[in-house]
Amino acid sequence: MKTAFRALLFAPLLALAAGVSAAQTAPLDGAVADGEYAIIREASGMRLGFRLSADASTLFASVTVRGTGWVALGFGSPKMDGARMVLAYVKDGTAQFTEDLGKGWTHAPTEPFALARAATEKDGWTTLEVALPAGAFLKGPTLEVIAAWGRNDDFRTKHSGRTSLSVGF
Ligand code: HEM
Repeated sequence: MKTAFRALLFAPLLALAAGVSAAQTAPLDGAVADGEYAIIREASGMRLGFRLSADASTLFASVTVRGTGWVALGFGSPKMDGARMVLAYVKDGTAQFTEDLGKGWTHAPTEPFALARAATEKDGWTTLEVALPAGAFLKGPTLEVIAAWGRNDDFRTKHSGRTSLSVGF
């Protein structure tokens, strides 16, 4: 009886712990599961997600767009200029990536900085997920992020939607 009572008491706690760890260990697979990102923002046709790892060393970010062209996230600047960007598109089932530095309103390949990246295209939606070393991009508790998407499978066509935001952790 005592054991059964304890099981009843602790079952919700165990379920909660399992939920937390599922969110924290969700794979970087280019698909955003319910509850995977603690912070969700919507802007210019994009759904953005952000979270920190439990030890706050790794930053995870995602962008999902209704479209089949390129999607991108840029970090460390509220403008293209100076932002370190990960751009992706999926063509014939294969994800293509570039890691670029923004210069004015252009960008060009730079030393890769992402710990991991993944992109998928499914049912007309494209998602990019990126993992980054948090210390290199957070200014105190704040992350400056830009995001954009374009209609073509390339890294040159200008965006059809773009946004700039400050995310507080
Ligand atoms: C693919 C080539 C790209 C071209 C040709 C391009 C071009 C431009 C231009 C001309 C502007 C200023 C005018 C306007 O707002 O329309 C601009 C602004 C902006 N773009 Fe891009 N862009 C590109 C890629 C990107 C990417 C990859 C991102 C995000 C990672 C981005 C994010 C932004 C943001 C947030 C602004 C407004 C802030 C600012 O002036 O920098 N762009 N872009």
